[in-house]
Amino acid sequence: MKVNGRPYQTVWLEGSTVKLIEQRKLPHVFEIASCATHQDTARAIREMAVRGAGAIGAAAGYAMAQAALQAPEARFHDALDEAAEVIRSTRPTAHDLFYAVTRVRAAAACANSVEASRMAAVRAATALAEGNARAGQAMGRAGLPLLTPGSRMLTHCNAGWLAFVDWGSALAPVYAAQEAGVEVFVSATETRPRSQGAKLTEWELSQAGVPHQLVADTAAGALFRRGEIDLVIVGADRIAANGDTANKIGTYTLAVLARRHGVPFYVAAPRSTFDPAAPDGSAIPIEERHEDEVLYVWGRADDGTLQRVRIAGPGARAFNPAFDVTPAELITGFITDQGILPATPEGLAGYVREPSAAPVG
Ligand code: MRU
Repeated sequence: MKVNGRPYQTVWLEGSTVKLIEQRKLPHVFEIASCATHQDTARAIREMAVRGAGAIGAAAGYAMAQAALQAPEARFHDALDEAAEVIRSTRPTAHDLFYAVTRVRAAAACANSVEASRMAAVRAATALAEGNARAGQAMGRAGLPLLTPGSRMLTHCNAGWLAFVDWGSALAPVYAAQEAGVEVFVSATETRPRSQGAKLTEWELSQAGVPHQLVADTAAGALFRRGEIDLVIVGADRIAANGDTANKIGTYTLAVLARRHGVPFYVAAPRSTFDPAAPDGSAIPIEERHEDEVLYVWGRADDGTLQRVRIAGPGARAFNPAFDVTPAELITGFITDQGILPATPEGLAGYVREPSAAPVG
């Protein structure tokens, strides 16, 4: 996708350096961060310089490739296992992260010399990132028939190209509609506490020239009640085998509202987000983040500096789960790179039944 008219991906590998769009400074500052080692890339994932399940997966795959390129020959496989642990420990919910680490590790294990292993890891990480961008485009095509001229869509958090390598998941059908000349209108929720909707989705849609408005999370119910939402499309961080879906905190609230108002509720995600090892949503680990994300807000002051401001009173404590689980029964369907699938174990069985450690590249 383009930023100020120039094409970008969210994350890529240059030599043994991982480059990524620094998402914590958007929309105020557009900056490319460089991560020289897998530890730097792991920190960027943990601290959310790169975020969104697909982009986290691509960054994790590249971090493994970095580790493979930099590991000493004498203890190559031990060093790679240690790197995998460091990368896996960054964020617990996004399945794409574990999917990527497992695949790049498996690719490196299959080669018969250290040099061949290094190259196999780079090829696997690159194939994952390229596959991620292709899956985004395919989800766009699959979701396009759901949108007609004038459709009013609601989305939550950021599930656009910043959350992927390119295209995105929930916003991919919107970009496909734009390419097809179908104009839709997007309402983007602010998405407290980290405000990915206000900071990232609003910026992305502005860059793309898609008509949109930002709404406070608390305004969603009023929008449904006024009949101003035709469909909801969100992304996902991990989908259990029965279709229960973990996504950004607040997704469940929107799914309940959609059901109450008879509005279709779709989840867009590629295969790498489905976790066949989780039978239902209760098996999905939910990340809890620091309470300061609730107690403070970040933004740009009138003098142009980025500042953190406390909104809660002194001594206030906060509970900060990053994700919630929407039960499959509230989901109309999954927009995948293989088309729209029903949110039932039978509907998903063929799609998720893939050996989880098959090497790529
Ligand atoms: O905490 P984040 O910003 O990484 O959470 C992102 C989301 O919840 C997205 O909706 C999700 O990753 C789907 S888009 C790939």
